[in-house]
Amino acid sequence: MTDTPAFPAFPPGFFFGAATASYQIEGAHDVGGRGPSIWDTYSRTPGKVANGDTGDVACDHYHRYPEDVALLKELGVDSYRFSIAWPRIQPTGSGPANAEGLDFYDRLVDELLASGIAPAATLYHWDLPQALEDTGGWRVRATAERFAEYTALVAERLVDRVPRWITLNEPFCSAFVGYAIGRHAPGAREGAGALAAAHHLLVGHGLAVQALRAAGAGEVGITLNPDRLLPATGSEADAGAVRRAETLHNEVWFDPLFAGRYPLHEDETWGELAREAAAHRREGDLDLIAAPLDFTGINYYRPITVTDAPFRDPEPATRTAVDIRVEETWRDDVRHTTMGWPVVPHTFTDLLVDLRRRYPAMPPLIITENGSAEADVVAADGQVHDSDRVEYLAGHLAAVADAVAAGVDVRGYYVWSLLDNFEWAYGYEQRFGIVRVDYQTLERLPKDSYHWYRQLIAAHRDRT
Ligand code: NOJ
Repeated sequence: MTDTPAFPAFPPGFFFGAATASYQIEGAHDVGGRGPSIWDTYSRTPGKVANGDTGDVACDHYHRYPEDVALLKELGVDSYRFSIAWPRIQPTGSGPANAEGLDFYDRLVDELLASGIAPAATLYHWDLPQALEDTGGWRVRATAERFAEYTALVAERLVDRVPRWITLNEPFCSAFVGYAIGRHAPGAREGAGALAAAHHLLVGHGLAVQALRAAGAGEVGITLNPDRLLPATGSEADAGAVRRAETLHNEVWFDPLFAGRYPLHEDETWGELAREAAAHRREGDLDLIAAPLDFTGINYYRPITVTDAPFRDPEPATRTAVDIRVEETWRDDVRHTTMGWPVVPHTFTDLLVDLRRRYPAMPPLIITENGSAEADVVAADGQVHDSDRVEYLAGHLAAVADAVAAGVDVRGYYVWSLLDNFEWAYGYEQRFGIVRVDYQTLERLPKDSYHWYRQLIAAHRDRT
């Protein structure tokens, strides 16, 4: 590699990791008693996922996990963040545990520990058992109750060996992308349904925290994806759009979790829909949701520019997405990744500093995801020289270091992702891995970014 970006410096004790999620890497969709999830259904629905891709095989991590753990060991990470597939543990979303499902994660956890890597388990990274969607999904409170039962089953088996637990991953996506705009499973387009889902996800989180605490879990947190929202112009209309987008993207999660209140501006953002959503709230829910956590997981990729624009609903006859009249536009003065996401690292620092200021009661932060999708190619020398990804990671790690220097308590960083994988509605077209996966042969090939990250981790160890 030439012109490799310098390694940003972090304080002693800061840890490094890599992250993945079950549906995106495991494959083996009908192995070991696994039941169908909403992503199996959604990805099989024509037109939903690019190229008709599904997670049936994905990276076949279910069978190849020893090889993947060996890659993590060689990388030198302190921790590995993976998710547990609920439909492997409870194929229909309720009832006793499926032994084969628990056994798989048991083996994975033991392999990690034997390699000196601390497991960090996410309980819900979007693969809801289809049977629970059939009875209402996250629109109904019963799903939150089932989630707590599932959490208890997993914790009972693994709590002695998994030191870090994450209840939900990006509930924003589960609620709004899944039930409002329909670009994720289950593909629903219901304004009020999405707000009910948001609340029930938070209730599920609170109940899962109780189950984890009862089982004696060590560190417990949730992973959110707060957005850095910038107005496209200095107009009042755009400022109003940012205000509404703040409610939708950030406050709906951060306010109940860390300020003990429902979002202050929900009426302004949702009007009538807010009143319908409020009908799902019960006395005591806020206390349940706001139970103390040990850390807040933050996933961050890119800033969003917001314009006040009429909502463009392709199906005006149906009452669909949450109409907040916000349009995302992209800055054209910076590089964009293949996702079309602008690369503006300082917005990461700004976001972290701002969150810390707005939510003083928020527990310490862990960056649970950050990374970039790039147009990787295998060069003539057989390697992937993904200098764009190295530059992205260097810039964003430096942005985290700047936030730490500014007094934000950030404890660690997980790169997204260890492997190229199933990028949801984009299928296998988008590659986020620091390890390339050849989907024909399932061979793994560490990219330049893997080697760069390995050196960064080693340099941090030597320095601290
Ligand atoms: C966030 C999600 O948690 C993860 O599953 C996804 O692949 C990345 N963002 C990249 O879009």
